[in-house]
Amino acid sequence: MALRNMRYEGDPVLNKIAKEVKELTPRTKELIGDLLDTMYHENGVGLAAPQVGILKRICVIDVGEGPYVFINPEIIESSGSQTGEEGCLSVPGKCGVVTRPNYVKARALNENFEPFEVEGTELFARAMCHEFDHLDGHLYVEKAEGPLQDMTYEDEEEE
Ligand code: NI
Repeated sequence: MALRNMRYEGDPVLNKIAKEVKELTPRTKELIGDLLDTMYHENGVGLAAPQVGILKRICVIDVGEGPYVFINPEIIESSGSQTGEEGCLSVPGKCGVVTRPNYVKARALNENFEPFEVEGTELFARAMCHEFDHLDGHLYVEKAEGPLQDMTYEDEEEE
């Protein structure tokens, strides 16, 4: 496992649609490990493969209850809404206010290529929406209400 180089806003790879993963190759397993390493190193709660320049439909999320690996994820149910600050490792030092569903149920394949479903509320729901958007070439900045703000040191600590 290793750290990967992050891609930042303005890099065209972040605006492309990632490809469906058809099989779990050793290379893909290595990528998953690297995504987790890189996410923790960057103190993020989620990271998607396009953010390290790989156009595969894979992302990882850890909002404090252990890591989840999502391969080919899809949202199968969502409800409610939450409006709050959101940041992205590809848009460092900034945050913006985004409205997302407050409840999300997703289906995906895990790191062993087994199907699973998971439900999340609040930060976990927000993180799923945010990371899955990356796989379709979207950044939260497109959805932010009003201008982005500079993230304070305290905000970064919380994340
Ligand atoms: Ni992001």
